[in-house]
Amino acid sequence: MKGKLESFIDKEKLPAHIAIIMDGNGRWARNKNLDRISGHREGMKSVRAVVTAAKDLGIGYITLYAFSAQNWKRPKSEVDALMELLKHYLLKERDKLIENSTRLNAIGRLQELPKAVSDVLRETIEMTKHGRDMTLTLALSYGGREEIVDAVKKILAGDKVSPESVDQSTISQFLYTADMPEPDLLIRTSGEMRLSNFMLWQSAYAEIYVTRTLWPNFRRRHLVKAILNYQSRERRFGLTGEQVKKREAI
Ligand code: IPE
Ligand code: IPE
Ligand code: MG
Repeated sequence: MKGKLESFIDKEKLPAHIAIIMDGNGRWARNKNLDRISGHREGMKSVRAVVTAAKDLGIGYITLYAFSAQNWKRPKSEVDALMELLKHYLLKERDKLIENSTRLNAIGRLQELPKAVSDVLRETIEMTKHGRDMTLTLALSYGGREEIVDAVKKILAGDKVSPESVDQSTISQFLYTADMPEPDLLIRTSGEMRLSNFMLWQSAYAEIYVTRTLWPNFRRRHLVKAILNYQSRERRFGLTGEQVKKREAI
């Protein structure tokens, strides 16, 4: 249902790309005396709600940090459960993604995922490839530093790039996100004020929004609040406030 708050969103000033560090599943579970896996399972409900809401609101790109390159170091039982949940999510949501004209994409060291997961992932990407309204990107086995290392390797392995020609766009083109706009709004749930190796290059000028809400409690209205907060900010990109105002007046 469209809430009152939602009507305050300026459709002309929507972030083109929203990236979310979905954090706090474990704490949500602990607060309820449940096991951590229950927190991850509950977090899936938030994923469903937020992906649908983003598409309804007209967001073109949403990226969810679902599993970091460092998360492999968690107990095997938790890693296994997360992989199972991921597979389950993809199988269950594919039809809805197609219905919602949402294209699935994935970034990270996908070759490190268990075969059963990467198979379902590849299939779902293929099945949803005609989605035109929104691109949902899952960051899986993803690390921002790993991404930069992989980009440098690709540049050095090829013979297309001469040292003199390297500029910022060269780096951008070799990142996993080459075909996406940079995130305008970066949301982190659970109150942690850190990037945890997420989109280090791409977030250079992202507006950061941290909420204490734990990911399993994060729903459509929280996304709406984050967008409204984003729209209230002045993005200066190094310019003075006066320069920005002059530009807006043009
Ligand atoms: C985020 O929740 C999910 C993943 C990192 C996979 P956490 O599992 O990190 O939850 P907390 O931070 O321990 O509460
Ligand atoms: C970041 O959360 C990774 C994901 C949300 C997938 P973490 O819970 O792994 O990050 P830290 O350990 O608090 O930095
Ligand atoms: Mg965490």
